[in-house]
Amino acid sequence: MQQINTAVSSSPDHNTQGKHTTHCMPRYQLAPITTRRASTPHTACQGTSGDTGSSAIESVRGMEGVDIIVTFPKGRCTPVQELQMTTVKEDNVHVFAADGTSDDIDVPIRKLFSDAGFVEQHGLMSLNSVNWARIMVQVAHFFYAYFQCAPSLENSPLPEVEIVVPTGGAGNITAGCVAVKMGLPVRLVAVVNENDIIHRAVQLGDFSLSESVKHTLAPAIDIQDPYNMERVFWLLSGMDSSLMKGLMEEFYSTGKLRLPPGLHKTVSEVVSSRSVTDRDIVETMRRCWEENHYLLCPHSAVAVQHHYQQQQQLKHASLPRCCLATASAAKFQDAVLKAGLTPEIPAEIRALETMVTHSTPMRRGECWEGILREKIELISSTRKGGNSV
Ligand SMILES: Cc1ncc(COP(=O)(O)O)c(C=O)c1O
Repeated sequence: MQQINTAVSSSPDHNTQGKHTTHCMPRYQLAPITTRRASTPHTACQGTSGDTGSSAIESVRGMEGVDIIVTFPKGRCTPVQELQMTTVKEDNVHVFAADGTSDDIDVPIRKLFSDAGFVEQHGLMSLNSVNWARIMVQVAHFFYAYFQCAPSLENSPLPEVEIVVPTGGAGNITAGCVAVKMGLPVRLVAVVNENDIIHRAVQLGDFSLSESVKHTLAPAIDIQDPYNMERVFWLLSGMDSSLMKGLMEEFYSTGKLRLPPGLHKTVSEVVSSRSVTDRDIVETMRRCWEENHYLLCPHSAVAVQHHYQQQQQLKHASLPRCCLATASAAKFQDAVLKAGLTPEIPAEIRALETMVTHSTPMRRGECWEGILREKIELISSTRKGGNSV
């Protein structure tokens, strides 16, 4: 970026690094030193809105002692994201294509994880931001970003830096809140697409589902039910577990929640927010390319849009600002084309187009929880029999 005081993290995929650590941590703790195999087998089971599925698969494909089940919303991820999941051949990878949204997929998975006996029996785990280990790694990203952007560390108090986060399931923004609680002087901005529940919660205290999930050019954040917000609310309520239990029960039974005024005030002091349209996304991608020759993915563009808006509104100098870039544009060719730009497609991605694909359909009306339960049981029983499924 040309603006002084502004940085764009160019990590091609924030997911893979976090997930690899998320996977390695339990394996490290469970593995006998001699074999480096998990002494207790695990099955990772998770839904994805597109990106987290392929990076979780990538972190464990072919590993002994771990199977992974990923369920993606058929037709709602980009073709490249879908191929990154369905072309994987390793026997420990099991991919389901569900006829629904990523929020629909989270419902049966949440039920499975709330069955403590089943979780224990099958060593069930998650490699996305349901797993605290993933968030822990992202906390470190906030410290890194701060030290990259802070103009000086000489003065006390330390200068503030604004960190802008493309937000869907709210894992990364939870990590930001943890960093704030740890004393990092950052101002957080959660930027969402037109699926704006977090924006409404921050602005109005209205944490309520809207009619439906909107299909946008930034599909990995097409999320209505940002399950990590429970952690944000808990952290910012002074870790009031009984308050949180009541609030979340209300939210999950009615689909609506009005934040108590005290909690809303604290949330809006720590996090500010913005909602961005598809039109904003393509304009931002185009402008960033024209000005910097940097090809943003549509999610990263959601964050940079906030920067452009702030520049226009505040003519005077603002805080140093860092926009987190969460994915590679190569996976979002449709958005790149809509921005009037030319997709840069690496050879590895081109190669996927000719590969054989494997996935099991999950149709509307079927019992998705039952299908996943059966698959998990089959994986465990086949392991006992000595074969991989
Ligand atoms: C590309 C991309 N951007 C942003 C996000 C936002 O996720 P979260 O809000 O959980 O940090 C994700 C999540 O998977 C993603 O894949």
